Amino acid sequence: MKNILDSFFKDVGIDLGTANTLIYLKHQGIIVNEPSVAAINNKTNQILAVGEDAKRMLGRTPAHINVIRPLVNGVISNFEMTQEMLRQFLRRLQGSGFSISGYRRAVLAIPDNLTEVERKSVEDATMNAGCSRVYLIEEPVAAALGAGLPIDLPVASLIVDIGGGTTDVAVISMGGTVVSRTLKIAGDKFNEDIIRFVRDEFKLLIGEPTAEYAKIAVGSAIPLDEKLEVPIRGRDLSSGLPREAIIKNSHVRMALGKSLRTIVDAVLEVIEATPPELVGDMLKQGIYLCGGGALLRGLDQLIERETAVRAQVAEDPLTCVARGLGRIVDDFDHHREILDNPLKPIQINL
Ligand SMILES: Nc1ncnc2c1ncn2[C@@H]1O[C@H](COP(=O)(O)OP(=O)(O)O)[C@@H](O)[C@H]1O
Ligand SMILES: [Mg+2]
Repeated sequence: MKNILDSFFKDVGIDLGTANTLIYLKHQGIIVNEPSVAAINNKTNQILAVGEDAKRMLGRTPAHINVIRPLVNGVISNFEMTQEMLRQFLRRLQGSGFSISGYRRAVLAIPDNLTEVERKSVEDATMNAGCSRVYLIEEPVAAALGAGLPIDLPVASLIVDIGGGTTDVAVISMGGTVVSRTLKIAGDKFNEDIIRFVRDEFKLLIGEPTAEYAKIAVGSAIPLDEKLEVPIRGRDLSSGLPREAIIKNSHVRMALGKSLRTIVDAVLEVIEATPPELVGDMLKQGIYLCGGGALLRGLDQLIERETAVRAQVAEDPLTCVARGLGRIVDDFDHHREILDNPLKPIQINL
């Protein structure tokens, strides 16, 4: 009987990221994987589109339409839009084989440096979007689960999650964070670095989508054997006319240098602040990189070289947190303990 009831519970795991929102539906997998973007009509205050549809409108809308990212640095900056975006995403689950509506528990991954007010705001947005009970979990813990690490044992793992707005560096042991550090330097900052570099070096103005394209197409954290370059288009600073330039791997590397150094330093600081008994485990287990930024070529090698700890990119880093949440919602009772005390993480802030 319990099993039958269980299958009617539409438990979901939600990775509400600054850049992307992923929703895992119990026993079904990741059903929603969309940019955390909403397009609104300023005149009527109505949401016109969310996710991929809204992102496509970026930079192409008339004055009365605004395309916004309702989350900034992992924190809700526009409460109503976040709620509405989530509601629209959750609505999409209805076509996934569930016709009986009702009780829906949600496990939500949140950065572990949120204040109580910020936690409450994410929780409220999820409740208002249609969930009857919300459990919060620290994002690095979900990421570690997604990476297949043994999180409930007294064995430490070091997770570096490089998302859109923030990079979270955390040591996890027994289902909680032991030491953590959050930086506002991640994928978005990399894009800004590229925009600035291209403006200063090429005297060319480019938009964020172009910078992101260049980062993904030719970017790396260390020098590469292969020669990567790609044409980019922008507006010439002096003539004001469109112009093309070739951006090479070495350019992107130069542009990102300072930001990458800051991330490496944060990893070093977290390692230094980790209690000695756990450092030994960490050496054995190594460092796991996740989040979209982990896909930057050679970032694992840079971190490994600078910390002298083995570093690897988790499998499919963009879905790591969502898959970790999936493990929780698929077997809720087993993971209950790490959800029971969501408001009191063990945390040493640096
Ligand atoms: N192949 C890639 N190389 C470098 N960065 C990437 C790549 N793919 C995605 N990203 C970056 O990853 C970031 C989004 O990562 P994600 O983990 O989804 O963020 P969040 O959890 O904050 O929503 C974006 O800044 C995006 O540009
Ligand atoms: Mg994330």
